[in-house]
Amino acid sequence: MLKINPNYKRLKESYLFSEIARRVAEYSGEHPEETIIRMGIGDVSLPLCPAVIEEMQTAVREMGQAETFHGYGPEQGYDFLRRGILGYYGEFGVELEADEIFVSDGAKSDLGNILDLFSAENRVFIPDPVYPVYVDTNIMDGREVVFLPARQENGFLPMPPADTAPADIIYLCSPNNPTGAVYSREQLETWVDYAKSHHSLILFDAAYEAFISDDSPRSIYEIQGAKECAIEFCSFSKTAGFTGTRCGYTVVPKALQFDGAQLNHMWLRRQTTKFNGVSYVVQRAAMGVFTPEGRRQTKENIAYYKQNAKCMTDTLDKLGIWYTGGKNSPYVWLRCPDDMDSWKFFDLLLRQIQVVGTPGEGFGACGEGYFRFSAFSSRADTEEAMDRLYRLFK
Ligand code: MLT
Repeated sequence: MLKINPNYKRLKESYLFSEIARRVAEYSGEHPEETIIRMGIGDVSLPLCPAVIEEMQTAVREMGQAETFHGYGPEQGYDFLRRGILGYYGEFGVELEADEIFVSDGAKSDLGNILDLFSAENRVFIPDPVYPVYVDTNIMDGREVVFLPARQENGFLPMPPADTAPADIIYLCSPNNPTGAVYSREQLETWVDYAKSHHSLILFDAAYEAFISDDSPRSIYEIQGAKECAIEFCSFSKTAGFTGTRCGYTVVPKALQFDGAQLNHMWLRRQTTKFNGVSYVVQRAAMGVFTPEGRRQTKENIAYYKQNAKCMTDTLDKLGIWYTGGKNSPYVWLRCPDDMDSWKFFDLLLRQIQVVGTPGEGFGACGEGYFRFSAFSSRADTEEAMDRLYRLFK
C-alpha cells in the first residue's frame, strides 16, 4: 500500500498566503460591492521596466526565427545572465565565478529544493518570525527546527545562541521578511565565525538586498570567510518586478565542502537532473535589469515603493502606532493596536476598512501581536489604505 510522507501531517492546514487569499476571497464573495486594497503578500504593482521589456521582445522575436531560435538551455543559466549577475556582485566588492551562480525560477523554489542536498538528521536554526517557506520545507523533510526569537529587544536580529547546541543549517534573511531588520557587518561576521567554528551551513536569503539604502552588507559574501560556510539566494521578483515573470539565482561557492562533498557539485547534479532551466526569453528579460537603463529604471521603481513605505510610516506616526522596517525594506512591521492578536487585527481591517495585510503570527509564534504591510501596492492604493486606517484609529 502506498505510504505518504507523514511529515505533511505536521504542517499547518494551508500555506500562509494561501490562507490569506482564502479569507479575502470569502469576504469579497460576501461583499462584492466593496473595494479591497491588498497589502498582504509582497506582490509588485509596477509593470516590468522598459529595458526589461525591450530585451524580452528581442528574445521573443529571436524565438520566432530558425536562425536564432533556442531550445534547451544550460540548466544553470545562460552565460550572458550569469556574467551580468557576476558584474552586479562586483559592484559591492564580491568576486564570484560564473559556475558558482545558478539561475532559477525564483528564490522560493531554490530555498525549498536546496534541502535535497542535506540529511533529514540535520538540526536547523530558523529565526522567528520569518518567511514561512523555511519552516514548512524543513517540516516536510522531518528535520528538527530550533527557533531563534527575533524580538524588539534584539532589534529583530537574533544572534548565535549561547544556551543551545549548534545547528547544522542556519537560515538568515536580511533585510528580514517580515520585520525589515538588516544585519550589520559585525553581526554577520559573528554568524560567519559561528558557522565556521561549528561547521554549519548558512542559508542566506538576500531577496530584499536592493532595498538597502545604507552601508549594511548586501550579500553575505561581503564577509570574509562566508564562501566557506554560506549559500546565498536572490531574486529578480522584488528587485525588478519579476513576481509573475519568475527568475532568481542561487550562489553556491565551490569552497563549500561538507561531509566529504562539494556542495556546488551536488547542486549542479541536482539541478541538471531535476530542472531544465529558465526560459531563454525570461533570462534575456532579466539581463535587461543589468543594462545601464535597467539599473536606473529598477532603482526608480524601488524608490517608488519606498515612498509608499514612507506614506505608511507617516500615518502610523500620526496614530502613535509602534512600527519598524520600511527603510531598508518594502515591509512595515507594526504592533497591533490595543494588544489585539494579529489574526483578529487582520479580520478587523478586512471587515471594517477592506484593507489586507499579513498577520505577524503567520510568520512564527514571536510574530503574534504584530502585523505586516507591504509597500508594493500602487501609490493611490497605499494612500487610500492609509487614509482608511487613519480614520479608523484616530
Ligand atoms: C511575501 O509576501 O512574504 C513574499 O512576497 C512571498 C514570496 O516571496 O514568496
